[in-house]
Amino acid sequence: MPVRFEVNGKAVTVEVEPRLTLADCLRHRLGLTGTHVGCEHGVCGSCTVLLDGVAVRSCLMLAVQAEGARVTTVEGLSLAEGLTPLQTSFRKHHALQCGFCTPGIITTAHALLSEEPDCDADRVREVLSGNLCRCTGYIPIVEAVLEARAAYKRRQSE
Ligand code: FES
Ligand code: FES
Repeated sequence: MPVRFEVNGKAVTVEVEPRLTLADCLRHRLGLTGTHVGCEHGVCGSCTVLLDGVAVRSCLMLAVQAEGARVTTVEGLSLAEGLTPLQTSFRKHHALQCGFCTPGIITTAHALLSEEPDCDADRVREVLSGNLCRCTGYIPIVEAVLEARAAYKRRQSE
């Protein structure tokens, strides 16, 4: 059956089987492989995308449930001209090693900072507690998110 939604600002129509997950639709049908799939049952957070601005696990959603929605993947959170402030902060704080969890963490952190640019370290930890990282350790990740707050505050005041 056809499903129509917007992905990273572009309207798409994809012919899918009703049982296809949104994660697999994004990766295998639309070539958006920045969305990673780890556990496939809602635990690791690596498949997180934004659905109408809200962070959701795309392995727990069917593609057909995205009908009419605005989906943003990690590719849509990047800039052609260089790193975003959040990406710059991740690089500065060495907040990734293998990078498998990073798209989900960047997406989750972007949703948090867009809504709560004044969040404190406890809030960052609480929100990122649903994103598992096996190799970096969470201290640099939390530091990176905290430093990126300034850019989101500036954006809000513009
Ligand atoms: S792959 Fe979706 S939460 Fe792990
Ligand atoms: S950077 Fe390797 S799992 Fe997080």
